[in-house]
Amino acid sequence: MRIGVLTGGGDCPGLNAVIRAIVRRGVQSHGYEFVGFRDGWRGPLENLAVRLDVPAVRGILPRGGTVLGSSRTNPLRVDGGVRRVRENLDRHGVDALIAIGGEDTLGVAAELGRAGVRVVGVPKTIDNDLDGTDYTFGFDTAVNICTEAIDRLHTTAESHRRVLVVEVMGRHTGWIALHAGVAGGANVILVPEHPFDLDRVCGWVENRFKINYAPIVVVAEGAVPADGGMVTKDDSRDAFGHVRLSGIGEWLAGEIERRTGKEARTTVLGHIQRGGTPTAADRWLATRFGLHAVDAVRDGAFGTMVALRGTDIVRAPLEAATARVKTVDLALYEEFGVFFG
Ligand code: F6P
Repeated sequence: MRIGVLTGGGDCPGLNAVIRAIVRRGVQSHGYEFVGFRDGWRGPLENLAVRLDVPAVRGILPRGGTVLGSSRTNPLRVDGGVRRVRENLDRHGVDALIAIGGEDTLGVAAELGRAGVRVVGVPKTIDNDLDGTDYTFGFDTAVNICTEAIDRLHTTAESHRRVLVVEVMGRHTGWIALHAGVAGGANVILVPEHPFDLDRVCGWVENRFKINYAPIVVVAEGAVPADGGMVTKDDSRDAFGHVRLSGIGEWLAGEIERRTGKEARTTVLGHIQRGGTPTAADRWLATRFGLHAVDAVRDGAFGTMVALRGTDIVRAPLEAATARVKTVDLALYEEFGVFFG
């Protein structure tokens, strides 16, 4: 059996741990061979393949990023893309493919599965918004990075009696904002799922000054004011049709300063959240996903992705897992209302 492996979408701490576990399990337990495809779906589309054996994965467990490279290439948007992918898989004698990615990469995997490609998915995203799995690897690392940043920002906010706005990632969902905001003791947390009222936010900010504390406002990049639209970087879109976000933090600080008269500054954490070494929890989850993905291939469970349910690794249909994003529901968000203001 020869298995192709690719990593698509934004890089994510733990990708290398998955790749290592796949290769170690496949080679040592089953005698499988592997082909690495470079840069997500661009690899099988443009025939960019690399050697992927046990020596190639030595030492990569704690490394961030992905040794296979990544991109947001979408073969479904390229003329003859599906045919080219299939031809290149055949050229390398690939019997099955393991695609490691988020909603976009796995959405392509689901579509190729319908076209007859034997594919198993591994869910990846720092945003933790993939349906069908309790958690994705990378999320814990991102939350820890954001929490540490918020801890550090508290001291400047208090010393200078400033409002500090922290913009974190989260295009459709506020999982990072909520977890890091709660862990870091923020007193305003804004998530894309629940449009915010600016007057209410300013009220919370003013309250905080009244009790002699300085406010930390955590805002997900996709958060929107109730009476406005999403703030985007520019009009460009990627191959999956997503706009480039970032800017809501700056906008919010400007509005808060104008309305409350308090100095407000913004820190945008950006790709720092995805960079560097994964936490132990992410290495653990990524390793388990990798081991189970190979078992799914062995069992012929194509069209599924491995997923975490409680403490078990299960298999979820790719189609269902990519049909919608997993959002922060209002009841969970409101659990933390006591800390706002
Ligand atoms: O999907 C993960 C993610 O980090 C999102 O939170 C963010 O909106 C997006 O990727 C940014 O992508 P890029 O690095 O391609 O700009």
